Amino acid sequence: MPLTITNARILTLAQPGPAEARRRAAMRDLGVIERGHVRIDEGEIVAVGAGDPQGASEGEVIDAGGSVLMPAFVDCHTHCCWAGDRFDEFEMSLAGASYLKILKSGGGIMSTVRSVRAAGEEDLLNLLLRRLAAMAALGTGTVEIKSGYGLNPEAELKMLRTIHAATRQTTQTVVGTFLGAHAIDPDNPNYIEQTINETLPAVAAEFPDITVDAFCEQGAWSLEDTRRLFENARDMGCPLRVHTDQFNSLGMTRLAVEMGAVSVDHLEAITPKDLEHLARSKTIGVILPAAGFHLDGRYAPARSLIDAGGAVAIATNYNPGSAPTPSMPFIVALACRKLRLSPAEAITAATYNAACVLGLQYSVGSIEVGKRADLQLLDSSDERELAFEFATPGPLVVIVNGEVVHMRAVGREEN
Ligand code: NIG
Repeated sequence: MPLTITNARILTLAQPGPAEARRRAAMRDLGVIERGHVRIDEGEIVAVGAGDPQGASEGEVIDAGGSVLMPAFVDCHTHCCWAGDRFDEFEMSLAGASYLKILKSGGGIMSTVRSVRAAGEEDLLNLLLRRLAAMAALGTGTVEIKSGYGLNPEAELKMLRTIHAATRQTTQTVVGTFLGAHAIDPDNPNYIEQTINETLPAVAAEFPDITVDAFCEQGAWSLEDTRRLFENARDMGCPLRVHTDQFNSLGMTRLAVEMGAVSVDHLEAITPKDLEHLARSKTIGVILPAAGFHLDGRYAPARSLIDAGGAVAIATNYNPGSAPTPSMPFIVALACRKLRLSPAEAITAATYNAACVLGLQYSVGSIEVGKRADLQLLDSSDERELAFEFATPGPLVVIVNGEVVHMRAVGREEN
């Protein structure tokens, strides 16, 4: 059924120019229509304009009452397909154990690997669908989900098939990424060679053109092994992304830029020289402030990266170890406080620029005719409130692919 939203402050995020991640001042231009309407039909935006719509509106009408209507979030970096929990390790970390120390002792990512290997596909899918529903209620229309808790051909394929199965059971857009290079499996002396020579080809055969990711870090993948994996992946036509400079700078950011990676993710420990190099490239920096909030209070220098002309996106990193949050509104609030982004920059980083990371900027991330109708109506007439408040229940209304997937009851008085 067609749907029209009227009387809204619309952040279109539409801008002339190439469909590339926005930088510098363009990040602060939200393409605002002060009071306007959006028409949706068959999942697509068919009209966007100032004032009231022309003629009678067919179908359902939502009067926004002056509230902000903006694109649904694009969460471009998550690990939200997992089983088990790491609550014991949370208590260890509260008592002072570091993330890398827990990983080195066979816990951390490896602990979730054991749980995921033991889980049945149906259980894994149900856990994932519950998390996707929580993310939708918080305004997220598109979710990237990494494998990386399997670490052998069977279990990695099991994760990617589960992620693919989720696409049929949610209206959200779900994008799978192969992260077979996520930790070093201490029980498999052949793990690195197996990942490069067996797991990667098996995954690329079943999921052609899938993006390949790696965790390049002390105690995880070395620079040289990541390079070998990426060379093979690139030869298979797979785009590259990498977890780099999270705790230590190993030279991966520069190598990723040279290899034409779509994004470099984390960057808490990036050097000033690498930051300059990255800012001059097409590679997008994906900043994940929930990890600093949850683990150790370290944050990436996102302000410097934007000021140097770099392209920046932000994401939840939703996972059971370093970032246990489904909430993009919380990430926007953190990005303003801890990364020193302005509210407008954080909104662009969480929508349009995040869509660019996934190559989806032609279908999501802005409110424009012909795009998928993924929208959210905030409980405010000023988008700065999204950044100012934190730990909120999220938007009033969330529309994904033209369907209202979430509507929050509010105690407004009827006259
Ligand atoms: O991006 N650092 C590597 N991967 C995730 C954490 C995954 C986990 O701890 O389970 C991250 O922070």
